[in-house]
Amino acid sequence: MAKQPATIFVCQNCGAQSRKWLGQCGDCGEWNTFAEERFRVTGAAAGRSTAMLNYRASEAYAYGKIASDEDERTTSGIEEFDRVLGGGIVAGSLVLIGGAPGIGKSTLVLQMAERLSDGGMSVFYVSGEESERQIKLRGTRLGLQAESLFIMPETNLGAIMDEIAKTRPNVVIVDSIQTVFSSAIESAPGSVSQVREVASQLMMFAKQTGTPVFVTGHVTKEGSIAGPKTLEHIVDTVIYFEGDRHHNHRIIRATKNRFGAANEIGVFEMTGTGLIAVGNPSELFLQERPENATGSVVTVCMEGTRPMLVEIQALASGTKFGTGRRMTQGFDHNRTSLLIAVMEKRLGMQLAGDDVFVNVAGGFEVDEPAADLGVVAAIASSFRELVISPETAVFGEVGLTGEVRGVLQAQARAREAQILGFKKLIVPESNRKGLEKLLGIRVVGVSTLDDAMDELF
Ligand code: TYD
Ligand code: MG
Repeated sequence: MAKQPATIFVCQNCGAQSRKWLGQCGDCGEWNTFAEERFRVTGAAAGRSTAMLNYRASEAYAYGKIASDEDERTTSGIEEFDRVLGGGIVAGSLVLIGGAPGIGKSTLVLQMAERLSDGGMSVFYVSGEESERQIKLRGTRLGLQAESLFIMPETNLGAIMDEIAKTRPNVVIVDSIQTVFSSAIESAPGSVSQVREVASQLMMFAKQTGTPVFVTGHVTKEGSIAGPKTLEHIVDTVIYFEGDRHHNHRIIRATKNRFGAANEIGVFEMTGTGLIAVGNPSELFLQERPENATGSVVTVCMEGTRPMLVEIQALASGTKFGTGRRMTQGFDHNRTSLLIAVMEKRLGMQLAGDDVFVNVAGGFEVDEPAADLGVVAAIASSFRELVISPETAVFGEVGLTGEVRGVLQAQARAREAQILGFKKLIVPESNRKGLEKLLGIRVVGVSTLDDAMDELF
């Protein structure tokens, strides 16, 4: 049998291993992600498959005999958070909350801890970043009083597990998985092997005891959690804080959820007293909308199961260089270029000599084709210097021949526009059926971009 090397190199992005240091990871293609980690094989397991040693008798179940009742859920006390979790906290689940530093992860989990403790649960909060006094200070600032919240400023997983075994809490929170280390592994806290080890230990604990465990994780510059692939595979649910720090609302999104729909979002407003749930996000995103300005239109996108109205802005202005630049924020850049090409060919708009900027207001990110028509409408409005009525909303996918295609969940989208008092809705012709019954809103179906332009201006 080959001798185990004392050290190996591990890609900090995807967890790939190599005996030699590599500049570029052969698996994920990232540069400069290899770090040296110590390899330690413990006693009896050395050289043999650990899976075999851990084998214990288990049985298979007949599909028909498995109980199919929903998992029981506990409310986190924060409605928007429950929604993202898929309806509440599931016993024995491991939830990862990721986001950039300072975006509000600790605030959110602390607020949740208070609500849970108010509901009579004992909450165990492990903080590897702040001392108990700092957390108390933050809690005081947020006006929190939690009788059965226990705080442990500790980073050694062994010590944490011992204390948890002693106190038997109902919920465990680990504030930043990157700070916690297991002494079974010699590499530094935050490295892929440590993060993976700590996560699997917590997972095992959660499954064995039925205790829900929440862990927070920092996101790297490139926008992923350190050791993202390995970590995201281990946990049950991944929730990301989205958007940038310069807006005073915060969006959390479930990018993976074994216990509910992925892509569900929750919207919060950030205040001096913590995060406050926003019941009607559409209203928030349309708040500062300019009335009667060119290059602005409202579109309806679906975020998980929830329709949301957002404003799309565009600016087309003569370029100072030979060819116009295209810049986008909150919408796919390539998709924008494609839509501009379609506009040039099918609508005869000469945009090649214009710089075109597209922006989704409020720092929101839209990534569904249903927003195509909104982007086209906003660009056309700015290019032609014609205002789109502020009481009009649009949605629809645009194809390469300039056709407007139907989108999913048209009913839900139309209702949201109706609720917010829009008077006219321009939708794909194939979606129009069934929407006419909506009161107080005129629904117009279009099948080509030409039709859409006629309706808009
Ligand atoms: P924090 O929760 O510590 O961010 P993270 O754990 O993701 O690094 O929040 C960063 C700072 O923002 C902190 O000083 C508190 C402040 N803050 C508020 O004042 N109100 C809020 O609603 C939130 C979310 C944060
Ligand atoms: Mg924090």
